[in-house]
Amino acid sequence: MSNFCATAIAHPNIAFIKYWGNKDEFLRIPLNSSLSMNLDNLFTRTQVEFDPRIHSDSLIINREQCYGPSFDRLSKFLDILREKSKKEIYAKVISENNFPTAAGIASSASAFAALTLAAVNALELDLSEKELSQLARRGSGSASRSIPEGFVEWQAGNNDQDSFSFSIAPPSHWDLVDCITIVQSIPKRVSSTEGHRLANTSILQEIRVKDSNRRLEICKKAIINKDFEKFAQIIELDSNLMHAVMMTSQPPLFYWEPISLEIMCAVTDWRSQGIPVCYTIDAGPNIHVICTSGLAEKIKLDLLKIDGVIDVLFSGVGSGAQLVPSK
Ligand code: PMV
Repeated sequence: MSNFCATAIAHPNIAFIKYWGNKDEFLRIPLNSSLSMNLDNLFTRTQVEFDPRIHSDSLIINREQCYGPSFDRLSKFLDILREKSKKEIYAKVISENNFPTAAGIASSASAFAALTLAAVNALELDLSEKELSQLARRGSGSASRSIPEGFVEWQAGNNDQDSFSFSIAPPSHWDLVDCITIVQSIPKRVSSTEGHRLANTSILQEIRVKDSNRRLEICKKAIINKDFEKFAQIIELDSNLMHAVMMTSQPPLFYWEPISLEIMCAVTDWRSQGIPVCYTIDAGPNIHVICTSGLAEKIKLDLLKIDGVIDVLFSGVGSGAQLVPSK
């Protein structure tokens, strides 16, 4: 194995206070701060090998050679690291997700977090967690939140230096489980990169952003105090606000399927009957149903009774990005 090789794993994350829209698209500086939890059962494992003998980068994802937009995105990201390390060398990148692509779970967060940690170590750069999260942000905004452990806040900031993520509580703090509810048809989705660009075309975006710090503070306090009811109310509001912006963008973006709404209604019904459960939705039709670990099996069974639900994957609170031995 060459000296310039390292491997890392990172988990995707589910946002409770959402990131939607940038104030600087190139640097991926978001319009508002956001809050998430890492998903422990799901991960991306990425090996990066910088090889002085090759003259371009290469990328294999899930055993398939990649060209086109995902390759270009990788190569542009590696350019940032080449500049930082003052090493003009190219890399072979091999990446694998342990979760099915069909699950519709955005893998860019775990992918860029794992890539950042592996590439930085392969280049022998000595960076702090804060610096790693700043760098991961350049690949995919939400990747910034997959660097620290557990429950994570991404401080929006105004420039490359002050836009970074940090942990607000470790995974052991609260035994929340994300019951990722996979629904039937997954429509062709507009990428989040494209969605962020459209955010400001919605007249609701300004209001969503203006009130975001208030929501973030309520959510953070609810997590620290493990106050499920407050947590449930604020994350559902935040998710609904983001989707209202999406639906009122020009052109509009509809990520929900009819069954997504059916599940949202079922979840709020269950909560009104006293069951501590709530939902949040990213840029896709699958529903992230959140509860504590003791309830997860029961919630899964109830979700599977809804016509059109094809699977429910469990994920507890995950660690931060970590180096692992190279194969
Ligand atoms: O990091 P991106 O560009 O894939 O954006 C993530 C957008 C959402 O998943 C919808 C919200 C979030 O905060 O993760």
